[in-house]
Amino acid sequence: MCGIVGAVAQRDVADILVEGLKRLEYRGYDSAGVAVINKKNELLSTKRLGKVQELDQALTEAPLAGGTGIAHTRWATHGAPSEVNAHPHISSNTIAVVHNGIIENHQALRSQLQGLGYEFLSQTDTEVITHLVHHELKTSDSLLSAVQKTVKQLEGAYGTVVMDSRDQDNLIVARSGSPLVIGYGLGENFIASDIMALLPVTRKFSYLEEGDVAQISRFDVNIFDIDGKPVIREAKEVSVSHDSGDKGEYRHYMLKETYEQPTAIRNSLEGRLVAGKLDINTFGDGADEIFKNVEHVQIIACGTSYHSGMVARYWLEELAGVSCNIEIASEFRYRKSFVPKNSLLVTISQSGETADTLAALRLAKEIGYQSSLVICNVPGSSLVRESDLAFMTKAGAEIGVASTKAFTTQLVGLLMMTMAIGKHHGMSADKQAEITQSLMSLPAKLDEVLALASSIEDLAEDFADKNHALFLGRGDQYPIAMEGALKLKEISYIHAEAYAAGELKHGPLALIDAEMPVIVVAPKNDLIEKLKSNVEEVRARGGLMYVFADSDANFSSDDTCKVINVPVCDGIIAPIVYTLPLQLLSYYVAIIKGTDVDQPRNLAKSVTVE
Ligand code: F6R
Repeated sequence: MCGIVGAVAQRDVADILVEGLKRLEYRGYDSAGVAVINKKNELLSTKRLGKVQELDQALTEAPLAGGTGIAHTRWATHGAPSEVNAHPHISSNTIAVVHNGIIENHQALRSQLQGLGYEFLSQTDTEVITHLVHHELKTSDSLLSAVQKTVKQLEGAYGTVVMDSRDQDNLIVARSGSPLVIGYGLGENFIASDIMALLPVTRKFSYLEEGDVAQISRFDVNIFDIDGKPVIREAKEVSVSHDSGDKGEYRHYMLKETYEQPTAIRNSLEGRLVAGKLDINTFGDGADEIFKNVEHVQIIACGTSYHSGMVARYWLEELAGVSCNIEIASEFRYRKSFVPKNSLLVTISQSGETADTLAALRLAKEIGYQSSLVICNVPGSSLVRESDLAFMTKAGAEIGVASTKAFTTQLVGLLMMTMAIGKHHGMSADKQAEITQSLMSLPAKLDEVLALASSIEDLAEDFADKNHALFLGRGDQYPIAMEGALKLKEISYIHAEAYAAGELKHGPLALIDAEMPVIVVAPKNDLIEKLKSNVEEVRARGGLMYVFADSDANFSSDDTCKVINVPVCDGIIAPIVYTLPLQLLSYYVAIIKGTDVDQPRNLAKSVTVE
């Protein structure tokens, strides 16, 4: 949450910073700002309420010249979205700061600094860092040491970049709880919250570790650990394509990413199912040894990633014969939980930086989980670095705030994990071959589903004037119903709930009337007759239904029920196949409603605050 970019260069950097912010806008988009130091050692700053585009426009009209600068796109925590609360925050016309995270002791620090005569202009927690650095600088021999003293006084989470107008040569950056990556150029260096921001200027990166403080100049990067000792954080070249941040021919990132799913899944499978056999090393060194001892799996995740974990529970218990629990990270991290013997802790996260999931992993290590695995889309992210094993989904950069291809590739990873663990719990070679076959058929099957787009677009018209919707599923389609409801609410702002269809009669049936469309995910499977009874319960109460089903499920359209024919597929991969029509439905409803599909209100991607 919140995007940070900084640069120390000989050339003017405002354009680089703004381009970086555009690439980070998924992290927050309620206001944006930039500050540079010009040749006369003056601090120049421009901030705008709203998206980075507003800032870009302002800078086109009144450019800022300077080779050292910092920039920020905000997702408000403390203080409403406004120009005055936008970063960078400035103290005494000299110290400028951008920050991602939450300073929990900001009230106490604010009072202390007010007592020292500092005047606060914003309602943000960040402004305390600005004045604190200014104050510490009075008794420090360098900006680096002032920042080191400052961060020792901060409680909470921060990724922060500090500059002093009297020193054009350096940026000081600090990380604790919010990611920062250093980008290495030729005679210029950069900092950002995510490599995406810096791909137009470099491919060489190193990640700061928790507690690191670094001094970045044009030719040098000096990093110090939490104890102030110099450390090396190895720089690596990345092979991510420069253009992965482009929308191409698509109107929205979400649509592009929905259509990328067959390719993303092909990439996630490639090289991992060799000659029909799963390559266990794909999970990391020593994976087979760890899987051999697993007697229980505990899955932890948030949001959409939590839904993929819910599907995995069905797979692990049914296909691998291993017990599995799943819990939302923000709950798990704050309760005392029992650790079953030989448990594997599995986190799932597109970004690898979600604060609650990361805290849950750290807690799990403390309370005795012996090994951990992350299913993640971002190499080098905190969850990847801190887990014993990692399955990297190869979805490519996901920019739309509503997760699509990250979700389906997570499911692919979780199904492979089921095979890897199942192998040690008596899963037969035939079953392994069947799952492999199923996975290999997936990309082509998804291409068939995407061909339904225009009929789903027509269907979306029925939802545009509705305020509520109910999603129903049973078994491993229940989490898919939940994911469908989440997609609809987050991008179209229609209130949507999901229920396991068998639960209807225990309360939600009271909601059914013609104003409450009911979406049913209904592939032919062992539960189809049960689901049909639930559909009849809705019909009998005058509900209007939209049933996504294959021809084998035998539903037919009538006055109260529209059936959308989904291609017949193997039952194992049905949760993945049925996800796509629901993604398309919410997309087209959002288009009709005119909402901001890629950057829905109040949200941001990569939730690095708890
Ligand atoms: C919804 C969505 C979120 C994320 C959640 C966890 O479309 O994307 O619910 O799934 O914020 O994020 P990650 O997967 O990055 O941990």
